[in-house]
Formats: sequence, structure tokens, C-alpha cells
Amino acid sequence: MATTKLLVSDFASTVKNVPSNYIRPIYDRPNFSDVHMSSEASIPLIDLHQLSGPRRSHVKNHGIPEEMINNMLSIAREFFKLPESERLKNYSDDPSKTTRLSTSFNVKTEKVANWRDFLRLHCYPLQDYIQEWPSNPPSFKEHVAEYCTSVRGLILRLLEAISESLRLQRDYIDKKTNKHGQHMSLNYYPRCPEPELTFGLPGHTDPNLITLLLQDNVPGLQVLRNGKWVAVNPIPNTFIVNIGDQMQVLSNDKYKSVLHRAVVNSDKERISIPTFYCPSSDSVTGPAKELVDQHHPAVYRNLTYGEYYEKFWNKGLATACCLDMFKA
Ligand code: OGA
Ligand code: NI
Repeated sequence: MATTKLLVSDFASTVKNVPSNYIRPIYDRPNFSDVHMSSEASIPLIDLHQLSGPRRSHVKNHGIPEEMINNMLSIAREFFKLPESERLKNYSDDPSKTTRLSTSFNVKTEKVANWRDFLRLHCYPLQDYIQEWPSNPPSFKEHVAEYCTSVRGLILRLLEAISESLRLQRDYIDKKTNKHGQHMSLNYYPRCPEPELTFGLPGHTDPNLITLLLQDNVPGLQVLRNGKWVAVNPIPNTFIVNIGDQMQVLSNDKYKSVLHRAVVNSDKERISIPTFYCPSSDSVTGPAKELVDQHHPAVYRNLTYGEYYEKFWNKGLATACCLDMFKA
């Protein structure tokens, strides 16, 4: 049976089985028995006190106060606990809306739905967007604004470190993305009666430059490493850094975007809050000239983030990533 509710959060606790439109084909399911556990050996933990070439990794000592992180997670939890009618005021399936609540991934094109609701916000420049953010819960704007301003500072520091690790000028990536965008998603994954049949989010790479993911204490994130899915279990007060497709382009394959997915469970709801940092839609990204020579030809052509994102959005999360479409 399919469901008539728009959001997973509004039927998840009333069903004994996953509705048919959420059931994935047998070859495309989480297969929990084949997932490895993360250890520091498999997912590097980067201590920003000793900043050094970060890759996909956890980050600790990042300078974002614990209170700000807890406020952010609490406000997300409170938002998804609001009555259905209150939440639905923010609902839209139009991806061009800069503030919107939606569900799954792309409800207009996907064949199988995902066990996720999300509130997507644009957050930079803050003053252009903050007035459209939800005003319920009452402290939403204040806490989220504090959080995303602080996260932006951290991302800029990471981008400097990454620029230097590529032997580029320290401000290279910042300059390249100049009028960049910063978006965030408040992801809510309700408990699921049959988590082995569906995904919170199926495997994908993030299309943007770099993602800083905050997760609560419920496991669910997995990354593909050496052909195996590895569970990246939460460490309190620590962020996950995911390299996105634009970083792979800019670094001419020196950094690789990471394939990751989110699974759900029958025990506990889960919240994750990725911050996506991206070039502005009309800015041109291509392999940095400094990284291209006779022995290292450009792997990708120049592209705008606008055209890249359009491909990503329309393709859906059914298959890996769109980088192949932009080879030089
Ligand atoms: C995403 C994402 C993973 C998670 O929103 O792009 O990969 O753990 N989320 O929720
Ligand atoms: Ni992602």
C-alpha cells in the first residue's frame, strides 16, 4: 500500500510495514550484514589543532562551541516535532525555492521514495535569506544563524588548508568560489519498521565543493571505502567532512568526492545537518591551472556549478555521480 501523507514523519509511527513506494529492488538495499564498522584507521580523525591536509574525515577541536552545536540539534528536533499543519506551511516540491520543507530527495522524478524529510535553507549571505526561515520554533532563526555563521568560518579555514595541501595559494579556493553559496539541510529520519528495505538517502556524492556534516548520536551514515560500505558512527562534538564533486574537479582528481549514504533503523529517529558549501551558480570551475601540465592533463572541462547542479538534480540519486559527464 502507498501512503497519502506528504511527509514520512507523519505516517512512520503508524505503519507496521514500509509502504510499497519506499521499497527498493532487492539488488539495491542496505544489506546490513555486509557493512563494516568505522575505526580511526578507516576514517581519519583530523584534529584542527594540528591542521594538515584533510580528506574525508572527522574533525575535532574545530572551534565551534558545544552549546551552539547542541542548540542546532535541539532546534532541528523541535522543528520536526511541530504539528503537521505547522510544519507543512514550509512545504514545497519546487527546488528553486530557497527555503523549503520536503521529503525523500526529488519527489517529482524519483521512482522509489526515501525515508527522509528535510528542511533546506540557504544561509549565505544571511541577511538575504533569514527572513524566509521558519519563525517557529521561536528561537529557530537565532540558533540557526549563529550556527551557520560559525560553520562558515570553519569551512573557510578548511579551504585554506586544502588549498595549501594542493600547493595553491592559501586563498585560492576562496577566491575561485568568490560569491559562493552556503546551504544547509536539516535531515530527519524517522524510525522505520523495515529498515532493510529502504534508504534514508541512497548512495551519492555531494555535488558541491565541501560538506560539513553534523549528526546526532544515532548511527546511519555510511561511506564507501575500498569497495565496502563502512558505518561512520557518531563521535560527539565532531563533524564529518565530505569532499564534494567540485573539489574533485578543481583539484584535478587529487581529492576524490566520497560516495556515501544514510540508512535508517527501527529503534531511534535520527537527525543529521549537512552544511553544503558551493561555488555560486554562474562561477566557472575547472581544474586549477597550477595542477595541469604535460603529465597531468586536465581531467575535466570548465563548468558552472549551475549546469552541474541541474544534471545532479535531474539525474536523481539512482546512480553514482555526474562527474563522467564533464570529462575534458
Ligand atoms: C546529505 C547526506 C547523510 C546523512 O544530506 O547529502 O549525505 O548522514 N546526508 O544524513
Ligand atoms: Ni550527501
